[in-house]
Amino acid sequence: MFELTINGAEHTLDAEPNMPLLWALRDLLHLTGTKFGCGMGLCGACTVHVNGEAVRACLTPISALQGAKITTIEGLSADASHPLQHAWASHNVPQCGYCQSGQLMSAAALLTKTPKPSDTDIDKAMAGNICRCGTYPRIKAAIKSAAG
Ligand code: FES
Repeated sequence: MFELTINGAEHTLDAEPNMPLLWALRDLLHLTGTKFGCGMGLCGACTVHVNGEAVRACLTPISALQGAKITTIEGLSADASHPLQHAWASHNVPQCGYCQSGQLMSAAALLTKTPKPSDTDIDKAMAGNICRCGTYPRIKAAIKSAAG
């Protein structure tokens, strides 16, 4: 049994210790906003926050997360009112949309640490999030706009 704190709520999971957080979120808790892309830490689609840090849920076993504060895209804001979510909408960032929850979680972790990021800060923070539609210019513009 594992106790996880996700989006402010306690969850008790009956699962193997090495189950990746991604599958606990999607299959056990039905929090499907966190996406499976590669399962190998290469694409960023599964990005969530663990204690405020952007983390790949596909590589993180639930046994490593007891006592941690986990936030998924569903918990980023109560009503999609995070400044990045507004910026994403006003810049029409998503194309197919599949990678976008991971993109948003990486961007949100960046702005928490660095409220006024430089281009280099943005490039560095977002380098691990792949978008097959190539929405990178709009992602960057939206991050800059949310940062004010
Ligand atoms: Fe986790 Fe690709 S699914 S990094």
